[in-house]
Amino acid sequence: MPLNSLSVFVSVSLPPLSLCFSMDVRSIKNQILYCTLFVLLLLFYCGWMKTAEFPIFYYSNSTWNVTILIWYWPFGDTLSLTGDVCWDLYKIPSCRLHSSFPSADVVVFHNRELIQGSQKLPTDLPRPHGQRWAWMSLESPAHNGNLQKFANIFNMTISYRRDADVTTPYGQLLPAEPEGNLEDSHMNKTSLVCWVVSNYMNHHKRTQVYNELKAIVPVDVYGRWSQKPLSSDDLLPTISRCYFYLAFENSVAKDYITEKLWKNAYKGGAVPVVLGPSISDYNAVAPNHSFIHVDEFASVQKLGEYLQRLAEDRKQYEEYFNWKKHWKVKVHGDWREYMCKICLQYNNLPQHKVYSDLEAWDKNA
Ligand SMILES: *[C@@H]1O[C@H](CO)[C@@H](O)[C@H](O)[C@H]1NC(C)=O
Ligand SMILES: *[C@@H]1O[C@H](CO)[C@@H](O)[C@H](O)[C@H]1NC(C)=O
Ligand SMILES: *[C@@H]1O[C@H](CO)[C@@H](O)[C@H](O)[C@H]1NC(C)=O
Repeated sequence: MPLNSLSVFVSVSLPPLSLCFSMDVRSIKNQILYCTLFVLLLLFYCGWMKTAEFPIFYYSNSTWNVTILIWYWPFGDTLSLTGDVCWDLYKIPSCRLHSSFPSADVVVFHNRELIQGSQKLPTDLPRPHGQRWAWMSLESPAHNGNLQKFANIFNMTISYRRDADVTTPYGQLLPAEPEGNLEDSHMNKTSLVCWVVSNYMNHHKRTQVYNELKAIVPVDVYGRWSQKPLSSDDLLPTISRCYFYLAFENSVAKDYITEKLWKNAYKGGAVPVVLGPSISDYNAVAPNHSFIHVDEFASVQKLGEYLQRLAEDRKQYEEYFNWKKHWKVKVHGDWREYMCKICLQYNNLPQHKVYSDLEAWDKNA
């Protein structure tokens, strides 16, 4: 595309340019005319390139800036943008997080505020050519509201989903050096199964599984619902004393795997029992043999019996920690990290894309 527009420019502007410098032109008046024509073409070309997808320097200069405008902070959670944030915090180069509207490559809109009406899209402003509007949400479809009114507005999606334009998962794996004493994972366990729940709803699938499970094995419940809230300092130490942690998502939706797995279970050092998307969704992002999926069992009764046997079989239990020899877990950083991730994907975005039916994209995952 940039090379094409460059070659168009060269072929169109070459005749006036050569006539401008030619000695054979009949009159000085014509020569001035050709020179003027050339300068006009040059100005037009430069002006156009400035707003086009790729600056002309793109191929010769690898450190090309992407400029992101965060139209408002998600949940009003304003974070500092002093310095080269993406580089300083995440080693992501050439990614600027502040910009004026006309010069932004990407403008980010977090869904929650749009749906609640506390923020609006700047549809009254002329939208610069080539600028992309990004829809961002880390919520499951059940909590995104009705997105029908956002048809034909957004060019990209930012979500935990693997098929979003920019995937911003709650956690991810990084290759690791083998860690020291994996055997320790069996030590100091005083509870068989633990669960932390604040938002307890009878209609949640997880509530039903919990109720069946607690009839078979003891389940220690923490969090607001059980009136045993845990401070953030107590969370992981508490979970570390449990053999198993119920990483039960509140919504069952494709790829919707939250901190309950990445932080609570993996960082806490308990084997996660997961309820959420399909086993294959978990396998796509989580280490092999690192979790127990409720769908692996014909009944909750069988799951409970398996957990009981596993806790008594030290060797078999330890196998659920073997993955730590190859991987370590990174829990996502703050919103700035997600914003910076846009720059990593920017060059892979399609030239042109419009979400003509965002509601369908969201709900029919
Ligand atoms: C087990 O508990 C003891 C005493 O509280 C502590 O010193 C030790 O580090 C713990 N081990 C693990 C693996 O958490
Ligand atoms: C996953 O683990 C199973 C046994 O636990 C093993 O047979 C299989 O090869 C592993 N797959 C990968 C991709 O590591
Ligand atoms: C972004 O979406 C708008 C609105 O549908 C559209 O006019 C524009 O061409 C799109 N831009 C890109 C880069 O896809």
